[in-house]
Amino acid sequence: MSLNIAQILQDDLITPMVRKTAYGLATTCILGAAVYAGYCVAAPEKHIIRQHRHPELNDQIEKVVDSLKITDDQLIHIMHILEEEMSAGLSPITHKQATVKMFPTYVRNIPNGTEVGQVLALDLGGTNFRVLLIDLRGNARVELTSKIFVIPQSIMIGDGRHLFCHLAECLYDFMLKENLLRTGICYPLGFTFSFPCRQEGLASARLTSWTKGFSCSGVVNEDVVKLLQEAINEKGINAKCVALVNDTVGTLMACAYKDPATAIGLILGTGTNACYIENLDKVGTWNSDYDEPKQVIINMEWGAFGDNGRLNLIRTKYDEEVDLSSINPGKQIFEKMISGMYMGEIVRLIILDLLQQELLFLGHRDTYGDYKTPLYNRGGFYTKFVSTVETDEGIKFSNTRRVLEDIGIHNPTYDDCAIVQHICRQVSKRAARLAGAGLAVLVNRIGKSDVTVGVDGSLYRYHPRFKRNMERCMETLVNKDVKFALETIPDASGIGAAVTAAAECRSGKGAAMVACVAGKPYLVNSIVSDEETADYEKINS
Ligand code: BGC
Repeated sequence: MSLNIAQILQDDLITPMVRKTAYGLATTCILGAAVYAGYCVAAPEKHIIRQHRHPELNDQIEKVVDSLKITDDQLIHIMHILEEEMSAGLSPITHKQATVKMFPTYVRNIPNGTEVGQVLALDLGGTNFRVLLIDLRGNARVELTSKIFVIPQSIMIGDGRHLFCHLAECLYDFMLKENLLRTGICYPLGFTFSFPCRQEGLASARLTSWTKGFSCSGVVNEDVVKLLQEAINEKGINAKCVALVNDTVGTLMACAYKDPATAIGLILGTGTNACYIENLDKVGTWNSDYDEPKQVIINMEWGAFGDNGRLNLIRTKYDEEVDLSSINPGKQIFEKMISGMYMGEIVRLIILDLLQQELLFLGHRDTYGDYKTPLYNRGGFYTKFVSTVETDEGIKFSNTRRVLEDIGIHNPTYDDCAIVQHICRQVSKRAARLAGAGLAVLVNRIGKSDVTVGVDGSLYRYHPRFKRNMERCMETLVNKDVKFALETIPDASGIGAAVTAAAECRSGKGAAMVACVAGKPYLVNSIVSDEETADYEKINS
């Protein structure tokens, strides 16, 4: 514009009056440009915020977010790798080095809804521990009463004997309250123990490693059923553990009690894992009988997928950081990219990175380095915050503002909120797509036209988009001639342990065990609703 004015000024035809005005205009323009440039330098945040109006267009932010994106082609590649890892886990030649262990569970009879009886169940898988009394009434009807107990951090990382002693004490408390002690009845008990175990029978399982923040001493390589039974006997409790199941197996069994088309169990909670029904002839590591039914549930322990580096192509520096600062570095790589124990932490690390690159919270420089705020502390951004942020629709961001307030960012701008939501969405979407790809491998492998998947876990239940994102991705990856349905049943992992014990009795083995209670009707309370969200609240805390 100033160039045009200079040319105009050379024109002899211009009257002095016009020339004066033109000079004035030119000066104003030059001054204006200078003031604007100075303003941009002096107040870079305002300038950058304008770019942030469309976070998806901001190169630097998008570069970070892009590192989280996994294309369909990459997912297909990951599915192939998972299949290879599964074969390695199932073969006796490669099982030892395999990362995806594919443990046979000894659970072979799938319930058909006719199982009856009263069974106790213990459900240990995270910071909460639950004791249940389950009344299987046949016709797929279940009634239960239950109580949640907390596992203190000191017990999670303490001596293993204290852990089992604590479990027995909780069981004692529950049975006392429900008048089940000293009744002359030995109650059968199903134990849902949601950690990797090499099973040697239905009621015999050696822990191979701890996950999800547990590290009790003296338990790895030990038979956890034996440790539990010893603690139960020491307290003089009239209960006998007849079955141990992983939570994925419990979920599959509980769902199958209602829907016999169930062939897969999936957990998306503090940790993640899946199990499925496999033909015995594909299980090279199977070392028991080949009687009917010629099938066994395989506990995949897919959380360890990638522990040998095969997922490195999709890992980001944030995943590496989460892993390095965890209690089990190098282990549970797939789990650390998906599950609730780690999701909030991934988001926190990204936010912190953007803040350090001066791309976020620009109006909050005075609070930079306030290391006491949760934002700067490991675990300071809970996974439940990811769900809360993602429930915001529109431009008000009232939930996101509350969350940011909680982590120490007061009065965030619209752009701050939009960017934080964008990050949460990408992190949870990546997790849902990875879980969806894993599940697609199983659905395709089952070889039936209709497959029901029993799914449970706090992340799956409470995240507003996880299910939708996972289903969408599966629609592209599952073979076109296969129909799949995702089902969720309340209290599935505990009910499943009870159903497993009862299904085993139906098959004849251990029938005496359940018969001792089946004859004596026990009045169960109607379903006790204990805080459903308790586990979720505790994630990352
Ligand atoms: C454990 C699995 C469990 C999963 C979900 C993982 O950390 O290794 O055994 O099924 O968490 O609870």
